[in-house]
Amino acid sequence: MQELIDKYTAEVDAFSPANAEELEAFRIKFLGTKGLIKDLFEQFKSTTPEEKRTLGKVLNQFKQLTEAKHQELKEQFDSQLTTSTNQQDLTLPGEGFAVGSRHPLSLVRNEIIDIFKRLGFVVAEGPEIENDWHNFSALNFPEEHPARDMQDTFFITKDGGQDSIALRTHTSSVQVRMMENGKPPFRAIMPGRVYRNEAISARAHCFFHQVEGLYVDENVSFADLKQTLFHFVQELYGEGTKVRFRPSYFPFTEPSAEMDISCTICKGAGCNMCKHSGWVEILGCGMVDPNVLENCGIDSKKYTGFAFGMGIERITNLKYVIRDLRLFSENDVRFLKQFKTEIV
Ligand code: DAH
Repeated sequence: MQELIDKYTAEVDAFSPANAEELEAFRIKFLGTKGLIKDLFEQFKSTTPEEKRTLGKVLNQFKQLTEAKHQELKEQFDSQLTTSTNQQDLTLPGEGFAVGSRHPLSLVRNEIIDIFKRLGFVVAEGPEIENDWHNFSALNFPEEHPARDMQDTFFITKDGGQDSIALRTHTSSVQVRMMENGKPPFRAIMPGRVYRNEAISARAHCFFHQVEGLYVDENVSFADLKQTLFHFVQELYGEGTKVRFRPSYFPFTEPSAEMDISCTICKGAGCNMCKHSGWVEILGCGMVDPNVLENCGIDSKKYTGFAFGMGIERITNLKYVIRDLRLFSENDVRFLKQFKTEIV
C-alpha cells in the first residue's frame, strides 16, 4: 500500500492540467466518491494495527496533499475565467447588424411618383386580380383581341364573358376603376404589379411592374401629353435627354404613340442597349379613346384626356444597366446591397 501511495503522490505532484475539464477529471479520479483515495481508505480498514499506525498518517497526508493541489488549481482556473471576462475591451465598437436597403424597382417607382406629384398627379391603386371588364372590355379591346388569349393572360375563370377573372395584364385597368368611381378632372399615376403568361428569361418575366398615368379634363390636348412626358424624362434622366414619338396602336387610345428617348447609356452614339440605333423605347401613350371615356360614364364631348403606361423594370434597366430581369426577383443580397440608400 505504501508503494501505491508513493506512486499516486508522484502522479499528483506532476499533475498539470491544461484546462478545467482535465482538473475535473483529476478530482473525480482521486477525490470522487468512487475515487482512488476512497479505495485506499477501504484497503486501510483491513491492515494490521501495526501498519495502521504508520499508514494512517501517510494516507491522511496524501489526502490533504491531493485536496490542496486540487483547490489551488481550481482557484487558478476560476480567476483566469473572471480576468478573461474583465479583460474585454469596452471601447471596441459594437457588432454591426445588417440594414436592409430599398429594392431598385421601389427606388425608381418612388422617383417616378415624386416627379408626377410635383406636377399635381395623385397616386391611385387597383386590384391585381381583375375582371375582364376592367382589364379589357372597358378599355375597348375587341372580343377577339390576342391579348385576351390564354397565352398572354393568366385566367382564373375564363367563361364568364366580362365577368371572367384574370391576373391583370396591365395597370390600365386602374384608369377604368378611377374614372368609373369619380368625376373629372382626373390627374393620377397608378403604379403596380402586372402578370403575363411568358416564359421566364433574361428579357421576359411572368410578372413585372408598370406605372400608368391618366389626365382627363376639359381641353386636354396631345401637346399637353408631349410636354408632360418631355418634362418627366428631363427630370428622370437629366436635362438634354431627347424624346421622339412614333405612331402606334393601342385599343384604348386614339391617336396612340410610343415614346423613345435618346439612349441613356451611349447618349445616342449607339450601343448594345439601344441596338445601335441611339434610341430606346420607354412607354406607350395616347389620347384616351372616346369609347373608353363613355364606357366609364364620362361625357366624351366635354372631356378629353391623355394616358400613358411604362414598365418600371425597363426604366430601371436604363438607369442602372441591369441586363437580366431575373435579378429583380431573386432576392440575391449581392445584387440588392448595391442600391444602398439612406432610408428615412
Ligand atoms: N397598357 C399598355 C401595356 O401594357 C401600356 C399603355 C400604352 C398604357 C398606352 C397606356 C397607354 O395608358 O396610353 O402595354
